[in-house]
Amino acid sequence: MLATAGSAIGLGNIWKLPYMIGVNGGSAFVIVFIACIFFVGIPLMMTEILLGRRAQKNPLDGVAALAAEAGVCSWWKVIGGMGMITGLLILGFYSVIGGWVLNFITQSASGNFVGITAAQSTGNFEQLLASPLTLLFWHSIFMCLTMGVVAHGVNSGLEKANNILIPALFAILLILLGYSMSVGNMVAAYDFMFSLDFSKITPVAVLSALGHAFFSLSLGMGSVMVYGSYLQRNVSIARTTIYIALADTLLGLLVGLAIYSLVFANQLAPNAGPGLIFQTLPIAFGHMPGGSLIATLFFMLVAFAAWTSAISLVEPAIAWVVENTRVSRKQTCVALGLAVWLLGVAVLLSFNDWQHIKIVFGLNIFESLDKLTSTILLPMGGLLMAIFAGYFMRKEHVQEELHLSDSAFKLWRYTNNYIAPVGIAAVFLYLFGLVQ
Ligand code: PFF
Repeated sequence: MLATAGSAIGLGNIWKLPYMIGVNGGSAFVIVFIACIFFVGIPLMMTEILLGRRAQKNPLDGVAALAAEAGVCSWWKVIGGMGMITGLLILGFYSVIGGWVLNFITQSASGNFVGITAAQSTGNFEQLLASPLTLLFWHSIFMCLTMGVVAHGVNSGLEKANNILIPALFAILLILLGYSMSVGNMVAAYDFMFSLDFSKITPVAVLSALGHAFFSLSLGMGSVMVYGSYLQRNVSIARTTIYIALADTLLGLLVGLAIYSLVFANQLAPNAGPGLIFQTLPIAFGHMPGGSLIATLFFMLVAFAAWTSAISLVEPAIAWVVENTRVSRKQTCVALGLAVWLLGVAVLLSFNDWQHIKIVFGLNIFESLDKLTSTILLPMGGLLMAIFAGYFMRKEHVQEELHLSDSAFKLWRYTNNYIAPVGIAAVFLYLFGLVQ
């Protein structure tokens, strides 16, 4: 459970959700995001954990074994294969952002933010983005940290550390929130994030919110299956899922409130994009008593959260290679680590020298990778898992894992078999222009 929480809580909550809210029009996005968590995220997280616990293998071989048990075509294992690739693609940009966080630890510790103004803070971040070598340095460190842990298989120690560090992250966030409340514009932030205005909901906001529900809960690529396979038989899948989903969503929304309160008090742009937290947080830390220390601790905790998520992004691929070939765990880590590192180099260049290179729909390398994974690959993986568990596995086998009361089981089946797949399919059909 701790490992799954460690995978779910990461840059998605602290870095990505806040800026996505701003880019997608505020409350319209938040409402759809929360609905996606409840109607799609929670049932599908239960599905992914149950697949993992029943299969007791890496995602690809696991789904193949479950397909054999159900007597259906083994091609369902593409779910696992697609997930491994998706994880590596996500890590390509996740590591670059993880690098930004590491850089901000050193900046906080050396007192760089003391007394900083809004304009200086924006300038400071822009300077970081404009320096490929600095980005490369921190991205490389983040990749080494991630692959180092995976290569040595010391994940369990980190998982135990989650026990202390996740609550610590919440605690430090409350300090930040309290400070933002006292000096910022919390009323405007609240309004921006929670005012009920359904007219602002756009198809793009729906698609982004759905994609982010998957990203934030680490769903659709097999990470949760891997951790599900470690979950003991007597632990309730439903309860575990609900705790994780609530903590994960709450954390993201609290960070959002803290950030927007500062954004509105400092006349910053809510739609600043991926740099949002890196431009606003220094202003708060730079003016609070003991700010450098608190900022250092904060960014260290964020780096830790990012690290545990990054590990879960590569684990499915590594587990598959190690279990299926003669290549050792260390060699696999070096080879895959290098491939992802290279991808990250392209991503970090897309913030400066390669800014003008557009891949599809006018999106640069970072944006294309992000959109491809969050809005297409993860929901696609989730859709296939829902269909497989809901329509192809034997009902008794599913219930053996979920172990729910009759009415709760019906509720899960209803959401897993109808609401989630129909919702995801509708978004895809819209995306591909098949319905208007
Ligand atoms: N859930 C992580 C976050 O919010 O930062 C990111 C992530 C991890 C996505 C693992 C997907 C995944 F399989």
